[in-house]
Amino acid sequence: PVIDIAALQDSGFWSYDPGFKVTAPVESKITYIDGGKGELLHRGYPIDELANNAEYLEVAYALLHGDLPTAEQKAEFFEKIREHTPVHDQLRKFFEGFRRDAHPMAIMVGVVGALSAFYHEDLDVSNEEHREITAIRLIAKMPTLAAMSYKYSQGEPFMYPRNDFNYAENFLYMMFATPADVDYEKNDVITRAMDKIFTLHADHEQNASTSTVRLAGSTGANPYACIAAGIAALWGPSHGGANEAVLEMLDEIGTVENVPEFMEKVKSREVKLMGFGHRVYKNFDPRAQVMKETCDEVLEALGINDPKLELAMALEKIALEDPFFIERNLYPNVDFYSGIILKAIGIPTSMFTVIFALARTSGWISHWLEMHSAPFKIGRPRQLYTGETRRDFVKVEDRK
Ligand code: ACO
Repeated sequence: PVIDIAALQDSGFWSYDPGFKVTAPVESKITYIDGGKGELLHRGYPIDELANNAEYLEVAYALLHGDLPTAEQKAEFFEKIREHTPVHDQLRKFFEGFRRDAHPMAIMVGVVGALSAFYHEDLDVSNEEHREITAIRLIAKMPTLAAMSYKYSQGEPFMYPRNDFNYAENFLYMMFATPADVDYEKNDVITRAMDKIFTLHADHEQNASTSTVRLAGSTGANPYACIAAGIAALWGPSHGGANEAVLEMLDEIGTVENVPEFMEKVKSREVKLMGFGHRVYKNFDPRAQVMKETCDEVLEALGINDPKLELAMALEKIALEDPFFIERNLYPNVDFYSGIILKAIGIPTSMFTVIFALARTSGWISHWLEMHSAPFKIGRPRQLYTGETRRDFVKVEDRK
């Protein structure tokens, strides 16, 4: 049924929905989730088909434009991305203002927000071409900035983007190569796994960070600042920070023998089983399934026999058979396996959420574009006031 919002508002009606459990503030054509069935479609395409067959940048194109690109559109889009990978030289100085031990997510919030200082005066968000180039710039520059945040923490020189490499290869190159590496060697298994991780994190409709980008964007704010707001929202352990938290949890548990004791702590609500549970999925997260297969492929190809993986598998098995988890429909989410893959390919734990942010940028900016391509209202939730009723002002000398 269509509800006449204006009439409801006039009658003084509003709803109280902490955590937006049943409230949709937007219409969107980008991503569809059926949490009960465990189905995720981007522009209608199932996530497993995209992750297994398409490159991340093709998926990004579909999120932005509605369909997967034709061969010609793909070549043109990829070329535009390559053109915009470098960042302004002055941004290097911005990095130098951070302590070396700063968390790379803190650096990312700062440097992506700082892009708004480089692209503000001449940016007209009502102009479609300006919006388009903003999306290209962000998707192109995120790997460069992400790798710079890592290099800075290592005290190593920044690497310039290699535009003869594809998107994932270039990111891995900027992360791991050094100026002395004249014969830097790519690894196809690692590159493909990285690209799949990007695709699996590309979009997920109105999650906390995307809603943040939309809310900030609804005021007409600078889009680079909106994406920085999204990065801040993603950082929390209940959202994108969970991939880092999974590895910390595995470190804390230590060995398979300690799993039952840890599970008791989970059931007594002392701790959460990180990488489990989801607001929308009440079934297996379809991204987690692809992630698990990728995890197996990577570990086998690299010949890694990681005790962390053995521990993760033991946890997964126990949790999936435990009534506490069954009754609450708690299944592994995308972050349960991504951390293990990232660890296997040599990415340090503090970079896990940065990689999530890099990948989610295509989703965030697609939502921002979708919002700006039609009339929209400023996001302005109401609240249930539970404070004091009206009372008289008391002078400071009379207050008790
Ligand atoms: N471990 C143990 N118990 C859990 C977990 C978990 N990971 N997740 C939910 N529960 C329990 C809750 O304690 C609650 O039980 P109760 O009703 O008996 O008190 C019940 O399941 C429902 O949980 P809610 O917190 O109401 O679920 P909500 O939808 O608000 O939270 C969330 C979803 C934040 C993802 C939660 O499951 C969680 O914190 N998971 C761990 C962190 C994580 O992996 N986050 C990544 C999410 S995916 C992503 O952002 C990419």
